[in-house]
Amino acid sequence: MALLAIETSCDECSAAVVSAGTANDQVKVHSNAIFTQIDLHRAFGGIVPEIASRSHLDMFNPVINEALAKAGIQFSDLEAIAVTQGPGLIGALLVGLSAAKAMAYSLDIPLISVDHLDGHLHSLFIESQKNCRITSANLPLLVCLVSGGHTNLYLLKSLPPGAVRFEKLSDSRDDAAGEAFDKSAKIMGLPYPGGVHIDRISTSGNPKAYVFPKPMPGKNLEFSFSGFKTAVLNKVKELGYEPYVFGAVHPEKLPQGQILADLCASIQHAIVGTLVKKIELAIEMTGAKGLAIVGGVSANSELRKTLNERVKIPVFSPDPVYCTDNAAMIGASGWFKYKRGEILSNKELLSLNAYSS
Ligand code: KG4
Ligand code: ZN
Repeated sequence: MALLAIETSCDECSAAVVSAGTANDQVKVHSNAIFTQIDLHRAFGGIVPEIASRSHLDMFNPVINEALAKAGIQFSDLEAIAVTQGPGLIGALLVGLSAAKAMAYSLDIPLISVDHLDGHLHSLFIESQKNCRITSANLPLLVCLVSGGHTNLYLLKSLPPGAVRFEKLSDSRDDAAGEAFDKSAKIMGLPYPGGVHIDRISTSGNPKAYVFPKPMPGKNLEFSFSGFKTAVLNKVKELGYEPYVFGAVHPEKLPQGQILADLCASIQHAIVGTLVKKIELAIEMTGAKGLAIVGGVSANSELRKTLNERVKIPVFSPDPVYCTDNAAMIGASGWFKYKRGEILSNKELLSLNAYSS
């Protein structure tokens, strides 16, 4: 028996089958099917909500079927369904939510609603990952959730399967770290989402070639990245290039070669530097005995490397496939909720609605 998890909050249509892990604070993933819409949105330089919703409608059934087939089970083997309720794009969320309601109702099995951020945080409890075995010796655990929409710090004081509370310490006043990566990449004409391209191109660049601001330098845990893109825009102009403008294709006017690599490395160095500084401050303030990074930006190679070099406590990070959006993490959060009885009855589930923020 197993739980089917569904994630459609943004531009990944994903379904996973999970069940109890070998240890009672972990979850086993049997399948994790992901259809990414990145290619559909690329021409627009960002996510188009209408396109996202329509693509979820097209891909939902194939993705569910793939998840069940890879796990070697059928609908009749399911004991519960977990689905992302929010935050995210409303039209996209409603595709997964409506389908999950219909399936749970018709199969007469419980539905569990999962918060997307809680899903990212629970990616830490998926078993058999390379660098992600958290034990009570690592508590309190400082967790940094860095994604396209969030830059949050949390403190975790207990492990599942009991009710866990990620106590929020801080967030970003405006843009998230992932947005700083993506908007900087867009200015330089790199494809959406730009974080992974900046990461890749940075390997041949000089991180000290250009100086970019490290926002909110004070002794507080808040982040702010909204001014960062303006600094990148100004630097690109100052170097004599024309920043990418939607619709205008002038590749020869965009930074290329070594200058592009130096810009990428310097941008990444500044964003990672800001994250690491706040994380170090939070460790000092909380006395954390372990650090975990989750969310799309936690896949960044310089962030992982710098933390491993600088932080004196154990550093945990999910496997890359569980960093960016996926249904397995929704299944991890949903599984423990299910086991704690935090489920919606057939009567309650019909009135469940999505939330955007
Ligand atoms: O968690 P996620 O898939 O979606 C949200 O919930 O936002 O995170 C997506 C974000 C994007 O901003 C993307 O550019 C960033 O994660 N990202 C990276 C890397 N891989 C993904 N940023 C920097 N370096 C990477 N390797
Ligand atoms: Zn996410």
